[in-house]
Amino acid sequence: MKKIGCALLSVLLLSSCGKPADKDDKIKIGVSVYDSYDTFIGEMMIDFNASVAGNENITVEVYNAAKSQQTQNKQMQEMIENGCDVICINLVDRTSPKKIIDLAKKYNVPVVFFNRELVEEDLFQWEELYYVGADAAESGVIQGEIAANLFESGEADKNGDGIIQYIVLEGEAGHQDAIVRTERSVDTLIEKGYSVDKIASAIANWSRSQAQTRMAGFIDSYGNEIELVLGNNDDMALGAIDAYKAAGIEKDAWPVILGVDGTGAGLQAILNEEMSGTVFNDQKGQATAMADLAIALATGGSLNELNLKNGRYIRVPYSRITLENVKDYLD
Ligand code: BGC
Repeated sequence: MKKIGCALLSVLLLSSCGKPADKDDKIKIGVSVYDSYDTFIGEMMIDFNASVAGNENITVEVYNAAKSQQTQNKQMQEMIENGCDVICINLVDRTSPKKIIDLAKKYNVPVVFFNRELVEEDLFQWEELYYVGADAAESGVIQGEIAANLFESGEADKNGDGIIQYIVLEGEAGHQDAIVRTERSVDTLIEKGYSVDKIASAIANWSRSQAQTRMAGFIDSYGNEIELVLGNNDDMALGAIDAYKAAGIEKDAWPVILGVDGTGAGLQAILNEEMSGTVFNDQKGQATAMADLAIALATGGSLNELNLKNGRYIRVPYSRITLENVKDYLD
């Protein structure tokens, strides 16, 4: 089991393991991320660290589950043994939270799940379980609306047949954001009166390099037929851009390429007019909400001001980013 030693943790005072927290004034927060190489999660953790960094009474332990639920379950045990007062879990397998929940209950340690949403039934298995994330359907609708606007003038309809020929680059199989974003973005285009034709889709697991490989194959097979690429996240949209560049195709001939997240690289691609738009998945808002909730739970503070939905959920809104407003999102 390995604690992450990467740059994003450097701002933190990593506590020495095995020492129980001093309950009088110090609190210890444990965090386990599903994969520390995920761009969005990495950026979210930088914001999380920044939001607690000024407080000398808080120490944070961050673990990388490296895509193994078994590893994450062991990390949960270790964080409890280390005296963490509250634990934030980015589930590897959102359908397998049982072990984490059993340990939380047994040792009476509150858990804030984030980003990878467990089903409601699981969250309500114990009163000290919470979720911080966003509403996946909202991101799909906004992505569909951006696409609808971009196809309004008819220019993006390369073959002029009045039908949008599209490709979807999907996140992980079974991830709520992948399933719901894909469904809702296409439905939104249809609801807005567009005819659509799905040329192909591929699971690229949120990964830029996997998306590039899959997109390269689609460019070979379908070439100029492709009018729209819906990326379930920015990294995969960027992978599609990489594929067009590697194929030596001029930007004017690219399809409309859209992402979700508003990562640093995603925003830059919009500014460069390579990606036409994205849906802001407010990593800072989610990180701050998670820190506020974790601190309140660890200190026995009031949750009233956090406006929890159903007493358990914090969902931070998404918003739309295109060339018109991208500067507002760049620091
Ligand atoms: C983000 C993806 C990220 C995934 C990880 C999604 O909400 O949009 O970029 O890879 O969460 O769980």
